[in-house]
Amino acid sequence: MTQKPRLYSGMQPSADSLHAGNYIGALLQWKDLQSTHDAFFSVVDMHAITVSQDPAELREKTRRTAAQYIAAGIDPSNSTLYVQSHVPAHAELAWVLNTITGFGEAGRMTQFKDKSQKQGADATSVGLFAYPVLMAADILLYQTEVVPVGDDQKQHVELTRDLATRFNARFGADTFVLPEPVIQRETARIYDLQNPTSKMSKSGETPAGILWLLDEPSVTAKKIMRAVTDTDGEVRFDREHKPGVSNLLTIFSVLSGRTISEIEQEFAGRGYGDFKKALAEVVVGAFEPIRSRALELLDDPAELDRLLGVNADRASEVAETTLATVYDRIGFLRRAR
Ligand code: AMP
Ligand code: TRP
Repeated sequence: MTQKPRLYSGMQPSADSLHAGNYIGALLQWKDLQSTHDAFFSVVDMHAITVSQDPAELREKTRRTAAQYIAAGIDPSNSTLYVQSHVPAHAELAWVLNTITGFGEAGRMTQFKDKSQKQGADATSVGLFAYPVLMAADILLYQTEVVPVGDDQKQHVELTRDLATRFNARFGADTFVLPEPVIQRETARIYDLQNPTSKMSKSGETPAGILWLLDEPSVTAKKIMRAVTDTDGEVRFDREHKPGVSNLLTIFSVLSGRTISEIEQEFAGRGYGDFKKALAEVVVGAFEPIRSRALELLDDPAELDRLLGVNADRASEVAETTLATVYDRIGFLRRAR
């Protein structure tokens, strides 16, 4: 039997619900990849605390994020879906990697530059500075070959490769596998329904513009009916001149499995009202089973926590093996048992 390639990705527990952008841009792809890869997915609570979090909310968001991934099709008996802080090796390897990361090198990460600039130097933690190093530890602990991420994370995966190469050169060539980033399809970018030239984002300014996976079906339908379009009344894909309609067409196409031109033809000569009504049905049809399954999982937090525990055990086994090799190679004295 040939080994499936190892895949790793992480998601921050940063909202009560995932949105249509997360689902279409990331989750659908992960769901496909899990059958052809040996996949590890972590809810990265340790990354989340690099900006301030309310403790009770963080715990709740961690469960909610995991529940939605399972509900949306990540199979926890096949993929290893776990919580980052449950596996101490992440923090342990991150410390070692911190010692081979250049201060300037970390300072060049554009996400750090953006976030720290917005927050100001005193509000910016050393943890935020070291965030990409922790991400490198996540990836390298599992001897990962493939890392599916959004465009914004590509630089972090490149840093990960640099650190792995450096460690291997200094301490032993076969310590870490070099991971490859797999960038999520640009076509799957979803835009805000009220402001269709900016990305749908959890920090979006228009609540009516964001489709949450856990919204009530009637709320989802209402948001779609009120989505911003244009005045020419034609259901046609044209990202530049018709960003609103084009975004709705993308969502329709991805969630129904039909091509954009099929959908354009079906709604030729009909108004936006008909088109939106049909889209609302498609979206509710796709989201409703996920929503009810997620709520069901959240109704039994003890069972969900048990499942995450089992998965953390599986993750620990792999992570501990890599960490033991690393400790050995850098010259830490082995503890007598
Ligand atoms: P974030 O919520 O920004 O941490 O993103 C989590 C994942 O969802 C990342 O893989 C992003 O690339 C993806 N994602 C977030 N927003 C969108 C969007 N509007 N369209 C497509 N993918 C998105
Ligand atoms: N930093 C990633 C993001 O914000 C999340 C993440 C943490 C991650 N560790 C990872 C992604 C390891 C891929 C691999 O989206």
